[in-house]
Amino acid sequence: PALSRIQNIYDFEHIASRVLTDVAWNYYSCGAEDEITLRENHYAYQRIYFRPKCCVDVQNVDTSTTLLGSETSVPFYVSAAASAKLGHDDGECSIARGAGKEGVIQMISSFSSYSLEEIAEARIPGATQWFQLYVNEDKNIVKKTIKKAEDLGMKAIFVTVDASSRGNREKDIRMRITEDHDELDDDHSVRAGSTSGAMPSFIDKRLSWDEVKEIISLTKLPVLLKGVQRTDDIEKAIDIGCQGVVLSNHGGRQLDTSPPPIEVMAESVPILKAKGKLDPNFNIFIDGGVRRGTDILKALAIAGQDCKVGVGLGRPFLYANTGYGEKGVRKAIQILREELKADMRLLGVNTLDQLDSSYIDTRRLIGR
Ligand code: FNR
Repeated sequence: PALSRIQNIYDFEHIASRVLTDVAWNYYSCGAEDEITLRENHYAYQRIYFRPKCCVDVQNVDTSTTLLGSETSVPFYVSAAASAKLGHDDGECSIARGAGKEGVIQMISSFSSYSLEEIAEARIPGATQWFQLYVNEDKNIVKKTIKKAEDLGMKAIFVTVDASSRGNREKDIRMRITEDHDELDDDHSVRAGSTSGAMPSFIDKRLSWDEVKEIISLTKLPVLLKGVQRTDDIEKAIDIGCQGVVLSNHGGRQLDTSPPPIEVMAESVPILKAKGKLDPNFNIFIDGGVRRGTDILKALAIAGQDCKVGVGLGRPFLYANTGYGEKGVRKAIQILREELKADMRLLGVNTLDQLDSSYIDTRRLIGR
């Protein structure tokens, strides 16, 4: 269908389900085991209601903000997702161009279909890219990878910490067995194309807080932990000098029945605030199940101005890139930006920094 007929983010998903190969569709869409976390990630947002403010002059709504010091036209970013080439020949490069042209930040996966050099090359002048790091068992590889990310102009390192083992994604596994497909080593073991077995594992099962400290000491870039799921781990991240965390369960692809990140956010931010642990400049990002402007505004409102919030979307950009490439990515961003603007007007806010917990009712979410 023509892009002009696409109304919302779900439309891209529907189209992708029809044009992708079975292998690719199952790989992108699946979650771990019973897919409870996959579903709840999104449903949890529906348990939050707004408390819109009336009679506010909202002629000049502005969706722009800064994330980790970089300007962005919207408070959301493209999250790291492996193997974008399964959906479009230009893979992460067309995502880079689409995001960059819309003033949106792209987080690049360690397991992208294109090399980091190629994706950096596709960056639009002035656009921002972040690098997602899977910590290799070999410390030299970690050092070299971080150095390369710095040299190629990446502006932050996101260390993924929810993948000490591969999630049990049964649909995906079943497909690989039937199709004998071994290219989709996204999150784990050895990257496709490398001599299997000969290289150390891409995911360090021993990854510890000490190693995170070492990574922080290796780079001047901000280091954030992606995949944090409990309050005390946010606290540890603060204590060892991380610039932030991403509350995430890897889009429901890792431990099934992990909590929806928005619930973790609603629980942890007030606790950390009460303990005096939160600095307004500390970054608590969130991803998983975000599909609407309203979802994004809810995440921002929960944290208010107690910390900095960025909202990541994974699958929506893989789907938008599928078939349409750069244009699809741009369209997805435009749709979400228009939703955000309309929702902000209806909510009675002009700028994102006006959002706070007075704009939402979380009683159905956290039971009080
Ligand atoms: C991912 N995600 C991911 N995360 C990461 O840190 N490194 C990676 O290589 C990948 N790869 C990946 C592949 C695919 C196909 C998906 C769907 C996801 C997780 C991603 O960054 C993000 O946490 C989730 O996708 C967020 O959930 P939604 O937006 O897809 O619901």
